[in-house]
Amino acid sequence: MDARFSRRMTAMQPSSIREILKVTEHPEIISFAGGLPAAELFPVDDVRTAADCVLSQLGSKALQYGVTEGVPALRSAIVREMAERGVSCGVEDILVTTGSQQSLDLIGKVFLDPGDTVLTENPTYLAAIQSFQCFEASFAAVPTDDDGIIPEAVDELASRLKARFLYVIPNFQNPTGRTLSAERRRALYEVACARDLVIVEDDPYGKLRYRGADVPPIKSWDEQGRVIYLSTFSKTVAPGFRTGWAVGSAEILSRLVIVKQAADLHTSSLDQLVLERYLRDFDNAAHVARIRAAYGARCAAMESSLAAFMPSGYEWTRPEGGMFLWVTGPGDLDTTALLPEALGENVAFVPGADFFPRGGGRECMRLNFSCSSPDLIEEGISRLARLCARVGEKAAAR
Ligand SMILES: Cc1ncc(COP(=O)(O)O)c(C=O)c1O
Repeated sequence: MDARFSRRMTAMQPSSIREILKVTEHPEIISFAGGLPAAELFPVDDVRTAADCVLSQLGSKALQYGVTEGVPALRSAIVREMAERGVSCGVEDILVTTGSQQSLDLIGKVFLDPGDTVLTENPTYLAAIQSFQCFEASFAAVPTDDDGIIPEAVDELASRLKARFLYVIPNFQNPTGRTLSAERRRALYEVACARDLVIVEDDPYGKLRYRGADVPPIKSWDEQGRVIYLSTFSKTVAPGFRTGWAVGSAEILSRLVIVKQAADLHTSSLDQLVLERYLRDFDNAAHVARIRAAYGARCAAMESSLAAFMPSGYEWTRPEGGMFLWVTGPGDLDTTALLPEALGENVAFVPGADFFPRGGGRECMRLNFSCSSPDLIEEGISRLARLCARVGEKAAAR
């Protein structure tokens, strides 16, 4: 058969994270590659009780089609959640999505024509690059430093390019773990106003802070309706619900609703109802506190293991939350080439190059700390460090 695939498929590559994850399912591999929350912390019993309650009280109503915008009671819970995060909005400002990943796809559909420019942090979330690539976007990668994206660099790029939007992950960024300061968030918003730019603020990790003080979302300053704020229950309850949300102006949200209707009519009613019941009947704040305590200890274990074992010439970020830490090696390191050797040592990471939309980053790697115990983290980092030392010795001997 000669299947006539669309033109866009020529530019689409399979995600190397997904390919790696297949290998890392072997139990002997210590994987810092995926981005999975810790399954042992999922509130299984509470979710079972919530599901029983929904099905016994609502019966067949819980299994019926629903409205595209989402279950009203869940949207009200999200409004309360947004108020806690410093954003005042109403139910009409919320669209429930099938994970925040779906928001990226819907935003691509609403904003991007082939060849349009998207501004992103450099590096940025791999699956956002893939999502916008589906719409044949081109990327302008904005320089970042230890404090995240540099607003002046956004201004400079936006003055030259007619970008459709800026995509940014201000809290505990994926992949670097860095957090954007309040001053920079404010400055970014001012640049966006001056350059008439939409900001897509993706915040899946904001609730997972282990140290330091919360920083208000960019959305909290948004008087002009130019920020689309995205979040999710994937990291604070469980990713299997595939339930996230977008907060946006009526002008933008109404268009997202049209394309969501075409994509999946609505996010699973049953998932939304069970989630809403779980949030109503159980103490999710206490649950998130348990996640924070566990991940904070894992992050600390990874930092101290890196300090104890890594050879000289390596640096890493010190995330204040989230699930990832970013390691930068010597300039001649190639982590894409290193990965097969690491798998041979039964340890895995994601090579940095995958996160750079316009190339670069070969000397970097992303390490996930949320789904391994501190003991496994220590063992995995010592394996990785031994390999890095060996590779460094070989390079020096050349
Ligand atoms: C930055 C970022 N955005 C979006 C997502 C997608 O999350 P969800 O499970 O809500 O689709 C992730 C998941 O890892 C992420 O890291």
